[in-house]
Amino acid sequence: MTTEATRVVLSARPQGAATLDDLRHEPFECPDPGDGQVLLRTIWLSLDPYMRGRMDDAKSYATPVGLGEVMTGQTVGEVIASRHKDFAPGDIATGMTGWTDHAVIDGGELRKIDPEVAPIQTALGVLGMPGLTAWTGVNHILRVESGKTLVVSAATGAVGSVAGQLAKAKGLHSVGVAGGPEKCAFATDELGYDACIDHHAQADGKAMAAAIADAASDGVDYYFENVGGKTLAGVIGNMNDHGAIAICGMIAWYGGKNLDEGPQMPMLWRNMLTRKLRAEGFIIYDHWHRFPDFLNEVAPMVADGRVSYRESVTEGLENAPAAFLDMLQGGNFGKTLVRVGADP
Ligand SMILES: NC(=O)c1ccc[n+]([C@@H]2O[C@H](COP(=O)([O-])OP(=O)(O)OC[C@H]3O[C@@H](n4cnc5c(N)ncnc54)[C@H](OP(=O)(O)O)[C@@H]3O)[C@@H](O)[C@H]2O)c1
Repeated sequence: MTTEATRVVLSARPQGAATLDDLRHEPFECPDPGDGQVLLRTIWLSLDPYMRGRMDDAKSYATPVGLGEVMTGQTVGEVIASRHKDFAPGDIATGMTGWTDHAVIDGGELRKIDPEVAPIQTALGVLGMPGLTAWTGVNHILRVESGKTLVVSAATGAVGSVAGQLAKAKGLHSVGVAGGPEKCAFATDELGYDACIDHHAQADGKAMAAAIADAASDGVDYYFENVGGKTLAGVIGNMNDHGAIAICGMIAWYGGKNLDEGPQMPMLWRNMLTRKLRAEGFIIYDHWHRFPDFLNEVAPMVADGRVSYRESVTEGLENAPAAFLDMLQGGNFGKTLVRVGADP
């Protein structure tokens, strides 16, 4: 007996910016679990910027999604049927089941979630991959020290909001960069940034550089880089000697957009040299072994409110494509989630 289900597949490879025509919501028959497998009913689907890269047939750190294949993505769901010894119906678990309302997956690829610890969808945000990314960037890539100055771009997003709050807890002067006055007010009032710069209000990298010089009067020691573009152009000339940049993402340039925005190569390279900067790219999949340490440190901070989080929730799997495209343009405010099914 199969289960009537629906999923979102990649229907076309984007030419430049992704559009709704590139994604298709369709019915499918979800099979029964085989030996060692679990049937999961999706409750929450995480939408993340990396998914844009998986839509291109380009060499990267991960295999692209094939045409007609279900879009890749992490979910939290309820076990409906199990042929794996560690899972029973009613358990809540997370795994890479993709943009689908039901999925069959090997039990070994799932992690059980305790709904008593925190709301289950935090396993996709503040206590999941984005939180781990922020914590790794701050502690293991930038290796921040108190009293110094950190700039975080996409400062109110899933990764940036956690990076900013961890920096505050460590006694840094923190400057956020975010899109619009509402996000900037949230950055300072709720997330504890000492200042926030609205990148929409900065015409170019030069204006951004002046705004950052204002907000970080002692210069910038650490940059948590999420966007590239004019924000990077503005930060680079404000970096202090021996500063560090954690290259986490460059969303301003995803899909080949805004390529004329950003630092000129000679200016970038000269600053790297003369200020003796360290820039290190990192992909979170290389750091999963740190997950228990991350949870030990950050879960209590979430529980007692030292780290807060905000969610952008869209209802219904059929609305995931529009929510995803909106997030790439900054339409989200906090962690982007789709509520696919009811939370028991
Ligand atoms: N290295 C890794 O392993 C890893 C892991 C997770 C995420 N990442 C990267 O981390 C970054 C943040 O991811 P997230 O999941 O936390 O997403 P997010 O920040 O919750 O959402 C994306 C945000 O990007 C900002 N943005 C979009 N276009 C922009 C532009 N042209 N200029 C400046 N900002 C722009 C928007 O914020 P504003 O409205 O504030 O502009 C938007 O809300 C992404 O670059 C992502 O690829 C990397």
